[in-house]
Amino acid sequence: MVAVITPLCDAGMGIPTVTAARILKGQLSGHSGEETQLEMDKFPYVSLSKTYNTDAQVADSAGTATAYLCGVKANEGTVGVSAAAVRSQCNTTFGNEVTSILKWAKDAGKSVGIVTTTRVNHATPSAAYAHCVDRDWFSDAEMPVEAVQAGCKDIAQQLFENIPNINVIMGGGRKYMFPKNTSDVEYPGEHKHMGTRKDGRNLVEEWKERVKDLRGHYVWNRKDLLALNPNNVDYLLGLFEPGDLPYSLERNTETDPSLTEMVDVAIRILRKNPQGFYLLVEGGRIDHGHHEGKAKQALHEAVEMDRAIGRAGLMTSPYDTLTVVTADHSHVFNFGGYTPRGNSITGLAPMVSDVDQKPFTAILYGNGPGYKIVNGVRENVSTIDYNQNNYQAQSAVPLRMETHGGEDVAVFSKGPMAHLLHGVKEQNYIPHVMAYAACIGQNTRHCVSAVSQATGPSAALPGVLAALLSLTPLLC
Ligand SMILES: *[C@@H]1O[C@H](CO)[C@@H](O)[C@H](O)[C@H]1NC(C)=O
Ligand SMILES: *[C@@H]1O[C@H](CO)[C@@H](O)[C@H](O)[C@H]1NC(C)=O
Ligand SMILES: *[C@@H]1O[C@H](CO)[C@@H](O)[C@H](O)[C@H]1NC(C)=O
Ligand SMILES: [Zn+2]
Repeated sequence: MVAVITPLCDAGMGIPTVTAARILKGQLSGHSGEETQLEMDKFPYVSLSKTYNTDAQVADSAGTATAYLCGVKANEGTVGVSAAAVRSQCNTTFGNEVTSILKWAKDAGKSVGIVTTTRVNHATPSAAYAHCVDRDWFSDAEMPVEAVQAGCKDIAQQLFENIPNINVIMGGGRKYMFPKNTSDVEYPGEHKHMGTRKDGRNLVEEWKERVKDLRGHYVWNRKDLLALNPNNVDYLLGLFEPGDLPYSLERNTETDPSLTEMVDVAIRILRKNPQGFYLLVEGGRIDHGHHEGKAKQALHEAVEMDRAIGRAGLMTSPYDTLTVVTADHSHVFNFGGYTPRGNSITGLAPMVSDVDQKPFTAILYGNGPGYKIVNGVRENVSTIDYNQNNYQAQSAVPLRMETHGGEDVAVFSKGPMAHLLHGVKEQNYIPHVMAYAACIGQNTRHCVSAVSQATGPSAALPGVLAALLSLTPLLC
């Protein structure tokens, strides 16, 4: 868990993060790194996505998730509502709700799932099922009383009520599902991990009751997850932490599954549906690592995300599965300094500054908590261990939390209709392509003709399995 001011963020994988993760991946297996191929590097199509929100040049994860899941750009801080909704103003919710590709897929008879390393009611996943003017309304305890009275619902409640029976839900966020003061199963008696709900509801018990005759299973630790036989599971709720999952470098391998393990189980459950499936996967803690200035954590998260993409690739076929990997937004993270080939990605540039005569790391942030002045001058990084997991890379401007970046992010795609994701596109174009490929949502005329002709590769389209792997940098 992060010990910093709660970042209300998710993904965040900009292009510098992709490149640095590629080098790290190679260096972890003993190579110089630059020549390594990430799994996403092997995708045949790449596009750039313009990430701005309707009211923000530099985006947050809520507005961007609404764009790439619901197909419309939205205001910062809002999920599953159009730009007519005003952040935190409950009464602007009603009539402005927009639906997501997850719902379009469910309505079309596909199985659907959400897998994230953050809370399952965090900004990115919530845009798939909730309509909320405030991304921070995790449970009713985080909401103003007036908003509850005016009929607005917290995001945890919406997870279970808006789209009945999402087949797979995995991530963190246990505490938002239990009544206030309920002790957590993994951290008994620890106050900060206790249930938060003021309405006294136990959403997990309610869910278990609802799916008890439908081959539904609730698990809260890795061992129980891996003990399941996915062939005998049609509904899975896995909540592995009271809040976000830990960074993969700090994961408790007894209790917390890796992102790759969660994706593996999710696909095994979802792919049993002959009509196909839709899966949203979020490597949400890339963003958190960056916000904390902890580049090494962020990059290891990105490498784990890439491993999950590789696993998903082994379990699906590009002949019937569209896979899209993208980020919600970037970060002000970069690396440079004329480092030689094979230089450790967390290492130093080969020269000292010709201004202050001090060494500097290749990785630097534009702003963030790594800004350090020691005795009135820039810290000499040779006097500290800049390779440790939680080292905060230097930044130009001091901020308690590093910010998102405003530049375009990459969209990698493979599978049916993947070629439509090319060129520079608005972020909200993405789900329309996925829906078009899967023959779900509003625009399905091409599917009818494909079926009636029943010839050529397009005849297979209605069975498309759409998987969105949202390799995200963190958005706050
Ligand atoms: C909506 O609520 C805001 C306060 O949050 C209030 O100022 C505004 O008048 C309300 N609008 C309507 C149409 O009720
Ligand atoms: C929760 O615990 C706190 C502190 O122990 C107590 O003040 C509060 O009344 C309790 N609330 C409920 C709903 O039990
Ligand atoms: C920085 O620290 C290293 C290691 O202690 C030292 O050799 C070097 O002289 C220092 N550079 C400056 C400019 O203080
Ligand atoms: Zn963020």
